[in-house]
Amino acid sequence: MPRHFLTGDELTSDELTALLDRAVELKRDRLASGALDGKSVALIFDRPSTRTRISFEVGVAELGGHPVVLREGEMQLSRGESVRDTALVLSRYVHAIAVRTGPHETIETLASYSDVPVVNMLTAEHHPCQALADLMTIRERFGDLSGLRLAYVGDGNNMAHSLMVLGAKAGMEVVVATPEELAPSEAVVRSVNGAVSVTNDAATAARGADALYTDVWVSMGDEAEAARRRELLGPYRLDESLMAQASDRAVALHCLPAHPGEEITEGVLYGERSAVWDQAENRLHAQKALLELLVSTS
Ligand code: CP
Ligand code: NVA
Repeated sequence: MPRHFLTGDELTSDELTALLDRAVELKRDRLASGALDGKSVALIFDRPSTRTRISFEVGVAELGGHPVVLREGEMQLSRGESVRDTALVLSRYVHAIAVRTGPHETIETLASYSDVPVVNMLTAEHHPCQALADLMTIRERFGDLSGLRLAYVGDGNNMAHSLMVLGAKAGMEVVVATPEELAPSEAVVRSVNGAVSVTNDAATAARGADALYTDVWVSMGDEAEAARRRELLGPYRLDESLMAQASDRAVALHCLPAHPGEEITEGVLYGERSAVWDQAENRLHAQKALLELLVSTS
């Protein structure tokens, strides 16, 4: 049976710790692993990407593998070939399939028919590869994740969900502050078994936090609702006054792309407490550790 990575919940807490340990080793020596020697990985993008596209392509190459980067519009998928048939055919060519698409059900269908591991490179509901890099970044700053308070403020979107799932798995206290209208999915909140709290007040979430995290106000696919979202999310900006609520050692996080002046101020994004550039770099190392694990255990 292939091992998939669709939400992050597929990993045990011990596997998550081991994966982050391995990512640190690979950061120290980028060419230390030949886990994908002679293997190919399909990277399918139905939505734009800078970090994910480049970190996966470079990561597969550094592991000795061959990345096959595909835009959905280049495949017969765009002309009506089914996700099922795509999964069956790709499984005969490549050793893993990574996908960025909108509906989470699409990647679940692909995974259900794939004979090789399927990795979620972002759906509207989850962005678990980003959360792996985020946890790695926080751990680099604090040494250990267990017991740290991670506050996410903004839209209750894919990023919020993945931080809830993986943050809880790492033993963190995760607090999510969103407007009522943009609350995270109740199913995801239920799935983390009370390890997460949700509030409508950004300052309450930020109080005493070790890491303060935000994401764009208008995610890919939400463009038609941009004005409404900007209005609802106005009180959830990650700015200097919110940072002042957090602990003295707190770091500011953002998955990027950022819109300075909107969900985060320029001062916080480029300030000395910002860890966002390490986050972006750590995508590479964390995903290489993930691919190594999935391919070696499938
Ligand atoms: N954070 C992130 O996934 O960035 P990209 O959309 O550029 O891949
Ligand atoms: N929530 C954002 C994340 C971008 C990396 C989006 O889905 O567009």
